[in-house]
Amino acid sequence: MYNSKISGLGYYVPENVVTNDDLSKLMDTNDEWIQERTGIKERRHVLKEGGDTTTSMGVNAAKIAIERAGIDKDAIDFIVFATLSPDYYFPGPGVLVQRELGIKTVGALDVRNQCSGFIYAISVADQYIKTGMYKNVLVIGSEVHSRGLDMTTRGRGVSVIFGDGAGAAVLTREEDTTKGILSTHLHAEGQHAEELSLIAPGMGKRWVTDIINDNDPNDESYFPYMNGQFVFKNAVVRFSEVIIEGLKSNSLEATAIDMLIPHQANLRISQFVQKKFGLKDEQVYNNIMKYGNTTAASIPIALTEAWEAGKVKEGNLVVLAAFGSGFTWGSVIIRW
Ligand code: UT7
Repeated sequence: MYNSKISGLGYYVPENVVTNDDLSKLMDTNDEWIQERTGIKERRHVLKEGGDTTTSMGVNAAKIAIERAGIDKDAIDFIVFATLSPDYYFPGPGVLVQRELGIKTVGALDVRNQCSGFIYAISVADQYIKTGMYKNVLVIGSEVHSRGLDMTTRGRGVSVIFGDGAGAAVLTREEDTTKGILSTHLHAEGQHAEELSLIAPGMGKRWVTDIINDNDPNDESYFPYMNGQFVFKNAVVRFSEVIIEGLKSNSLEATAIDMLIPHQANLRISQFVQKKFGLKDEQVYNNIMKYGNTTAASIPIALTEAWEAGKVKEGNLVVLAAFGSGFTWGSVIIRW
């Protein structure tokens, strides 16, 4: 058995900054409400014409991660891509990344676990490395939310929160099993699937010919729906549970945490978790103020920024945790 370690990290965000004031020109909202409820000051949106896609942003982040891992792209054995906003309904972006990077015919897997997507993707990659099947796995989380949001007052409870961006990590075999990824824990509760969901397009209820002919401007099923307060209440409980589960499985206490990188869902959720574990401000990395909630991309973007700023150092105990649509949630415990 081996462990896996994160040998390279990268992120990419579109250059187009959208402030809370910009949004208040499109819908009945305001900077004060958004900052008070979520902590968000601005987010990035891809440009309307041309510009970035989920795949292209993932490729940009991946190139940086591969370079920092100090390997050639042809040393990548497998690709795992997490997103809820793929370029195409199918195929998923994993194969598109393979094509864009010009990587030989290695496998490419797409993960659909929304805000927990990167945690699930890391867990998958880690298992392949642990068993010895692969040595280097490229893991990407990337999202384009802005093209799919309801930018009217009707959608304000959701559309002010989400932003676009991508992050990537290269996981590499680590012979020393006291280092690298120590554990991953994954959970789901499908009972609440529709509480944070995008129902259409989907084959669950309609024929595609009806969808094409319908063209109903009042059909909200094409926009994401979130029961905000219900999601919030579940998030704070599940975040805490799964961090404790990860720590316990390694016989560690919360006092051992050097850096917590929570999925950037809402600054209030991160602050609740910080308080629960008695962590200082410098032990929790948040960047939701700049990027909003970028779903599967939020943890790799935050982890990359924290690493670039020297806040994640060799020997540190780093905890990643996420909760989101599904519901799904999970944690990763890393000895850096
Ligand atoms: O990443 C995946 C997991 N996602 C999360 O964890 C998100 C969890 N939920 C949340 O973060 C919060 O529930 C939200 C930030 C989404 C909403 O905050 P809230 O404090 O739960 O607000 P609310 O939905 O209860 O809405 C309060 C009021 C409502 O007005 P009334 O009914 O009190 O008159 C909303 O219509 O705020 C109104 N409102 C807004 N007002 C201005 C909702 N959205 C907006 C807006 N601007 N953008």
